[in-house]
Amino acid sequence: MRLDKFLTEMGLGTRSEVKGLIKKGRIRVNGAQPAGPEMKIDPDRDRVEADGKQVEYAAWEYYMLNKPAGWICAARDSRDPVVTDLITDRKRKDLFPAGRLDKDTEGLLLLTNDGWLAHSLLSPKRHVDKVYFARVRGVATEREAELFRLGLDIHDEKPALPAELKILKADRESGISETEVTVREGRYHQVKRMFQAVGMEVLYLKRLSMGPLSLDPGLEPGAYRPLTKEEQEALSRLASPR
Ligand code: URA
Repeated sequence: MRLDKFLTEMGLGTRSEVKGLIKKGRIRVNGAQPAGPEMKIDPDRDRVEADGKQVEYAAWEYYMLNKPAGWICAARDSRDPVVTDLITDRKRKDLFPAGRLDKDTEGLLLLTNDGWLAHSLLSPKRHVDKVYFARVRGVATEREAELFRLGLDIHDEKPALPAELKILKADRESGISETEVTVREGRYHQVKRMFQAVGMEVLYLKRLSMGPLSLDPGLEPGAYRPLTKEEQEALSRLASPR
């Protein structure tokens, strides 16, 4: 791998910025001044230092984030803060959110630079289960659960696939219900549009799980941690072979 590519991928700057670092003598490879930005290195064997500090190599990174409301699921945005900025000690600069949650939705989000795994997880053909906690305006009953089960018309070309609506609480006095919804797709505003289709409005939405990955209850909104080895393996089992 080229030295300048390695440094750029590890987040030390743009290609021209890292070339500047190399030129100024701030980068060392195995203790010596590199020949130039095009020098080939083996990231697993060679020791690269920037200003005397080792630049550790990570080919793939995987983080579980409890997305807070108010943050956008994108790698960058001109107006709003983006979720990748919450991962402050990442090694890679090419992390992106695997799938989207609305700006006002909280909960489980996977951030990675592993495009293959993200694609497998999100592919519409895969039908990976996603479970959401939803507080809604309306008194949810068995009738709504049955409509969710049958597959709702949410004004797309095709109706939504059958989904599960578990009613945790339905308060007639306040007219508010608390539910757990399991969907097997990831359409735009899917859960909100499904409730809309039965005349209800989502007031609060939080993703609890996605396939084999469940939100760590120890993570407050805005907090994150790397995936454990077991979680990574469970996701890899779900993905097609590379
Ligand atoms: N469904 C929605 O409506 N919004 C989300 O953020 C996720 C699923």
